[in-house]
Amino acid sequence: MTGTSKEQPIPLPLALPGLERGSLLPPEKHIPQLRMALLEWFAAHGRPLPWRAGYAPYEVWISEVMLQQTQMDRGVEYFTRWMRRFPNVAALAVASEDEVLRLWEGLGYYSRARRLPEAARRIMERHGGIFPSSLSELRALPGVGEYTAAAVASIAFNEKIPCVDANVERVLARVFNVDSPVGQAAAAERIRCLARSLVPEGKAREHNQAVMELGALICGRKARCGYCPLAAFCLGLHLDVVHLRPVPAKKAGVTQLVAATGVLRHGKRIFVQKRPPSGIWGNLWEFPGGGVEAGEDPQEALLRAFRQETGFAVCPVRRYGVIRHGYTTYRITLHCFGLRLEDEAGAGGLPPAAPASATGRDRRWVTPEELAALPVPAPHRKLAERIFASGTRDCGSGTIPLFQGI
Ligand code: ADE
Repeated sequence: MTGTSKEQPIPLPLALPGLERGSLLPPEKHIPQLRMALLEWFAAHGRPLPWRAGYAPYEVWISEVMLQQTQMDRGVEYFTRWMRRFPNVAALAVASEDEVLRLWEGLGYYSRARRLPEAARRIMERHGGIFPSSLSELRALPGVGEYTAAAVASIAFNEKIPCVDANVERVLARVFNVDSPVGQAAAAERIRCLARSLVPEGKAREHNQAVMELGALICGRKARCGYCPLAAFCLGLHLDVVHLRPVPAKKAGVTQLVAATGVLRHGKRIFVQKRPPSGIWGNLWEFPGGGVEAGEDPQEALLRAFRQETGFAVCPVRRYGVIRHGYTTYRITLHCFGLRLEDEAGAGGLPPAAPASATGRDRRWVTPEELAALPVPAPHRKLAERIFASGTRDCGSGTIPLFQGI
């Protein structure tokens, strides 16, 4: 297997032996040839990804969960770090949730990460530590949905099962000219059916990865048809509608959120609390705060929310500025403040216990070093890095430059 650097331009559409340039081999009538072209291309151009070295089921599983909504380069970086810390199911089964979430931090969709140790424990308890191979057993693991089960069954165990992700949808919608929106049931069913009809006996591992890889490297949003091994079979190319396929699903609306957060310090410690397990950033640690209503002053909103959430009466000591962050369908504007306790007596000693929490949330006073080891939402991490860039910088009362829109 090689990297992508060996790709050579090929005539457009691909001239197969005995086929005139520009002719079409209708894909539904040429499935064996199409499969062969795809497998040959993958053998020559598939990337040497770490889990492809041995296709260990545990590695395939972790990579597939990570790669959902993540670019490959980033996925490989997270995968490599993960495997150093949790090299097998047994190690993951005894992992602390904080450590799992910290290693996942930045990938988003944290409920996926929270289910991983749960699934690992299930494999230890119910399968004696041996990764299950059947679709039904895989599907029964916590957090394993239809796509992940199909990916592990086919890529790790070579089961004749199709995998359909966004890359596969795009390739098939173009090759077979699927002309209805991919989010709709009719197109989804057609694509599932086509995907099923394409998987070759005994070659599911290579075939499924080949379609995904083609979608990632050649048949991306901007197609590079001159390099495509399926050009001769592609109805979309023949009809000059590649750029119109897949027909997009209706876009999810964007939600604008304005919030305020405060870094409360007492001596060298900072107050953090755990978010509720469900909803955005579930079980990650954050600086408390809350939403800013339309027309409300962010600082006032923060003081109100902080007292409500933590029971502490606090005073603002500085305004750090605004952090803007996009997460799934949210666009978040976060106003950031430095805070101290209203009653700061004994700031040199131990910080006071937080008043009993009405929400039962876990809370802690932590040092900047302890904060670095906890999982934190991305905008809060940006804020912490700004404040504690050198570990202990500005733990006293030094000033911090204002920042806007980082
Ligand atoms: N994207 C998600 N899983 C993949 C895989 N196994 N190969 C290539 N791209 C992928």
